[in-house]
Amino acid sequence: MTDRKMKRVEDSITEQSHLIMPKSLNSAGYLFGGELLAWIDETAGIVGRRHAEGNVVTVAVDNMYFKAGAKVNDMIVLIGRLTYVGHSSMEVRIDTYREASDGKRTMINRAYFTMVGTDENQRPVEVPGLIIEGVTQQIENEAALKRAELWKRRRREGF
Ligand SMILES: CC(C)(COP(=O)(O)OP(=O)(O)OC[C@H]1O[C@@H](n2cnc3c(N)ncnc32)[C@H](O)[C@@H]1OP(=O)(O)O)[C@@H](O)C(=O)NCCC(=O)NCCS
Repeated sequence: MTDRKMKRVEDSITEQSHLIMPKSLNSAGYLFGGELLAWIDETAGIVGRRHAEGNVVTVAVDNMYFKAGAKVNDMIVLIGRLTYVGHSSMEVRIDTYREASDGKRTMINRAYFTMVGTDENQRPVEVPGLIIEGVTQQIENEAALKRAELWKRRRREGF
């Protein structure tokens, strides 16, 4: 039996920024949700790769919440962090903010993506375990565990 490598949440935290260009708007003049979804997926993928130290794929999207819109020339900041790691799966919380000129950030979206570490044949592989530190990470981890349990029950019972 091999000892499983353990990593901290901080080891894979990822921050990405985008300036909203006209090509990213919907017909109402706001940031197109599909474009934001792609940025969120990319951020989650980088978090997963940094933790897994290998390839990952997106397997599920949970609790995607569009809280507010954004317009052209707004600066958007995405922050992704791990909340839970199973055997091959990893849940990533991605918070998206609109950043004002003075640096003040307003959250406009929160999403939870589940990524799976994979081998060269896209089969699931074990990823390092997650070290949970402090009360905030503990609360996030407990909520993520409930989502993972719910998914397993849905798969078992087919609802
Ligand atoms: C991700 C994939 C490799 C998983 O394969 P699988 O045969 O379902 O493997 P498993 O059933 O062993 O699931 C692997 C892990 O994912 C978790 N999982 C699978 N489906 C899930 C879902 N819908 N929600 C949450 N977790 C899920 C399982 O619980 C398991 O977690 P664990 O290893 O931590 O216990 C496969 O479903 C796949 O290739 N999907 C397509 C991915 C893709 O192309 N994404 C878009 C582009 S990145």
